[in-house]
Amino acid sequence: MANLTYLNDASVFWNLKTRYQAKLIYTYSGLFCVVVNPYKRFPIYTQTVVKIYLGKRRNEVPPHLWAITETAYRNMLMNTKDQSMLITGESGAGKTENTKKVISYLAMVATSGKKSVKKVSLEDQIVATNPILESYGNAKTSRNDNSSRFGKFIRIHFTAAGKLAGCDIESYLLEKSRITQQQEVERSYHIFYQLLQPYVPDLKSKCHLSDDIYDYSYVSQGKTTVASIDDNEELEYTDSAFDIIGFSEQEKWDCYKLTAAVMSKGEIKFKQKGRDEQCEPDGFDVAAKVADLMGVDPEALLKAFVKPKIKVGTEWVTKGQNIEQATNAVGGIARAIFDRIFKWLIIKCNDTLIDPTMKKSNFVAVLDIAGFEIFEYNGFEQISINFVNEKLQQFFNHHMFVVEQEEYISEGIEWTMVDFGMDLAACITMFEKPMGIWAILEEESLFPKATDKTFEEKLKAQHLGKSPPFAKPQSKTDKNAHFAIIHYAGVVSYNVTGWLEKNKDPVNDTVVDLLKRGSNELLVLLWADHPGQSAPPPDDAKGGKKKKKGGGQKTVSSVYLVQLQSLMATLHSTEPHFIRCIVPNTHKQPGGVEPPLIMHQLTCNGVLEGIRICMRGFPNRILYPDFKQRYAILGGAKAAQEKDLKKCAQIILESTEGFSPEKYKTGHTKVILVSLHMFSFSTYEAVQLETFEEMFRLYFCLPSVDKIETSDEGNLIVHGKKMNSFVHVKFTH
Ligand SMILES: Nc1ncnc2c1ncn2[C@@H]1O[C@H](COP(=O)(O)OP(=O)(O)OP(=O)(O)O)[C@@H](O)[C@H]1O
Ligand SMILES: [Mg+2]
Repeated sequence: MANLTYLNDASVFWNLKTRYQAKLIYTYSGLFCVVVNPYKRFPIYTQTVVKIYLGKRRNEVPPHLWAITETAYRNMLMNTKDQSMLITGESGAGKTENTKKVISYLAMVATSGKKSVKKVSLEDQIVATNPILESYGNAKTSRNDNSSRFGKFIRIHFTAAGKLAGCDIESYLLEKSRITQQQEVERSYHIFYQLLQPYVPDLKSKCHLSDDIYDYSYVSQGKTTVASIDDNEELEYTDSAFDIIGFSEQEKWDCYKLTAAVMSKGEIKFKQKGRDEQCEPDGFDVAAKVADLMGVDPEALLKAFVKPKIKVGTEWVTKGQNIEQATNAVGGIARAIFDRIFKWLIIKCNDTLIDPTMKKSNFVAVLDIAGFEIFEYNGFEQISINFVNEKLQQFFNHHMFVVEQEEYISEGIEWTMVDFGMDLAACITMFEKPMGIWAILEEESLFPKATDKTFEEKLKAQHLGKSPPFAKPQSKTDKNAHFAIIHYAGVVSYNVTGWLEKNKDPVNDTVVDLLKRGSNELLVLLWADHPGQSAPPPDDAKGGKKKKKGGGQKTVSSVYLVQLQSLMATLHSTEPHFIRCIVPNTHKQPGGVEPPLIMHQLTCNGVLEGIRICMRGFPNRILYPDFKQRYAILGGAKAAQEKDLKKCAQIILESTEGFSPEKYKTGHTKVILVSLHMFSFSTYEAVQLETFEEMFRLYFCLPSVDKIETSDEGNLIVHGKKMNSFVHVKFTH
């Protein structure tokens, strides 16, 4: 699309829409591959299609995700350079579907061929990670029945000969609130509903689960079934995926039991104890089941919830909890256990997915992460996602700059322009600098007396009126928003309520201490990095540096920022490929198009930003032979006779009216121009009609063009045929 004669928002939209409705879901726009969700399975991911793309260059085959994957794979082999594919878009746009297709293509074309040695092939194992990740990390939301509630970065490693050598996965920010709470039309993680299915016969009895999902309040506040998902079938996939990847029976069962313990915890109840401000357990049965699943003593578990130990000076004392505190602590532990199970599953997959007998040479990585979005209410999760996207957009801009620069240098054209990445620097610096947004959040999270209010005040004192991207809230949908940030894609008003608590993410240490000493081996492993309470003090004895106070418990944002830094460093060392997924309509309707919805996404996902950058330079590039063929007629006899193609181009350009020298440059192999529309229609009228017709036919995707005429207002009207119907396209000059 970057080659469109009229490069602007409207033509980009029109082109995408026309192609989408002709069932062409992939379109290239400059450095982006844009994909519009078809909401329908087209036969475009079959073995036959693999053969079409295998070994082909991008420009030899129709636009497809696999053309990009093939390019990445070939470039990796040819240049021994790591590759990355960045897939972003809003929820339901198709990121995960496309990620899976990238992986299956690579698994198909790069089979390790070692099937005889191992019982299960590496490619089967890599593909089998999906059911596990999705059962534990995907849930039904109002927008997507199978929404990934975490971000992931999957690296697929290859040997120097291009054979699969393994894969590793990094995950980002699993949504924890969903584990204990859901909206009316949503559901919790798929695994909870799978556990109640019959496929694994003794699952329910071993996990002390009933037949009724409504016995489990943590996971039955919204929907409990999803029309498009067969939970029993999914359980089958999950269970066999555990086996394919190579989990032991014990690991698998510990995992199921802990998952069941998480969902059962919502039934641990407390009641007021006499007239005290304290509570006591209300019933023992549920706690007994939960404790059994976790391998701990039920009485000790309940006691730890109602009377946790805390350290006052050097003394340990117990502190009575009221009903609300104890109930919150149960929820906190449930969420923490599930989150740790999820991270462990990924570590476990990573351990088994590397074939140590094969030497890793390079990788192709896929990033499947939520795109920039503006919601009615934007909180802690949203600012984290939007910040990553700000960084990814900067990465894109920088990459585009590098690519442009290479082109100008290789064409021998002088060019001076500031790195496009600098466009986003002000906003990113405001987050990252000392006393920036992240630093203030961290400081306030560690300060015992801080509240949401003091956090808000500190942010404003430091940035309002001082940092240009920091603004007053301006949300129409959240009147209580506290501040706004001017992101590259738009202004977002954020609400800081609960950020400090979410960032600290506290757990009841007395309970943790108990879990660490329990008999469920997996649970002990999950908490291994947590100091608990009875652990020996960090080895001060060794002398030297003392550990920072509270060093055991890291904040959510600090962990996340370290991960992000490492992700960005990895991306910078790769050759990137950018995929942008688009939701075409809000009804999941195949072929349906809602223009404002699409335009908004093109803004948020940087496609329009990419075009804006294009326009700053010379977006139109035409090789000399093509230029002569297309436009020689404008240069008259002189151009026709000129043998030297570069000189011929110069003659054409100089003899075209209104084409001043600053609008184009001539390189070693091509002409580069600011815009092609300088060749106005009046000029075109001199061009042979066939060329003209051909251009329109391609431009409007028409199988045939019958007639082109000029209206009284000077507009062009193209009459063409599409299937059996006639189309008339008005082209306004
Ligand atoms: N290429 C495709 N072909 C057919 N259907 C698709 C395709 N891409 C997406 N879909 C449909 O759209 C749904 C949502 O896609 P997907 O789960 O990949 O979205 P996502 O961008 O990963 O969203 P989230 O951020 O919520 O995880 C799929 O379940 C599928 O029904
Ligand atoms: Mg997804």
